Amino acid sequence: YGDSSQKIDYVFKVVLIGDSAVGKSQILARFARNEFSLDSKATIGVEFQTRTLVIQHKSVKAQIWDTAGQERYRAVTSAYYRGAVGAMLVYDITKRQSFDHIPRWLEELRGHADKNIVIILIGNKTDLEEQRAVPTEDAKEFAEKEGLFFLETSALEATNVENAFLTVLTEIF
Ligand code: GTP
Ligand code: MG
Repeated sequence: YGDSSQKIDYVFKVVLIGDSAVGKSQILARFARNEFSLDSKATIGVEFQTRTLVIQHKSVKAQIWDTAGQERYRAVTSAYYRGAVGAMLVYDITKRQSFDHIPRWLEELRGHADKNIVIILIGNKTDLEEQRAVPTEDAKEFAEKEGLFFLETSALEATNVENAFLTVLTEIF
C-alpha cells in the first residue's frame, strides 16, 4: 500500500459509476486503504483516493474518483469524466434494478469520456450469493456484447477488488 517516497512514472485517473448503494465507495475504501464499513454513508459530491502501485516495473499512481449514485448528490458530469483513462461500472448482484440501469450509465460514460477509456463492469456483493438477483451469465453476455471487462467482487470479503483495479490499470498501461 503505497510508498510516498517513490518517484511516480504515471498518474491514471479512474472513475467509479453506478447506482446508489451498489458499493462504489466501499470498493474504493478496500482498494485504497484495505478498509470496509457496513454503515457507509451515501456519497455527496465527489471524493477521491489514490494508491501507488508498481506495474511492469513502473510506479503508477491510481487516482480513483468516486461520486454519488443519487442524481441530486452528483458532481458536475463533464468535470468528473475529464481526463479519465479507466472506468468501473458497478452494480449490486442482489439488486436487479442496479444491473438494468447499467446501459444508462454506459451511455453517459460514452457520451462524456475519452473514446479509448478502459471500462470494467463489476457485479459487487458476491458474499450475498443467497440473495443473488443477477445471474453471472447475463452480465458476462452484456459485457461481451459491449466490449467491457467483467468481474464479480465483494468489497466486504475483499474478493477480486485488487483484481478489478489491476485489470483496468494494466490495460491502460
Ligand atoms: P452512493 O455513494 O450513494 O452512490 O453509494 P455507493 O455505491 O458508494 O455504496 P456504498 O459503498 O456506500 O455501500 C452501500 C452499502 O452497501 C453499505 O452499507 C456498504 O457497507 C454495503 N456494501 C458495499 N459493498 C458490499 C459488499 O461487497 N458486500 C456487502 N454485503 N455489502 C456491501
Ligand atoms: Mg458512495
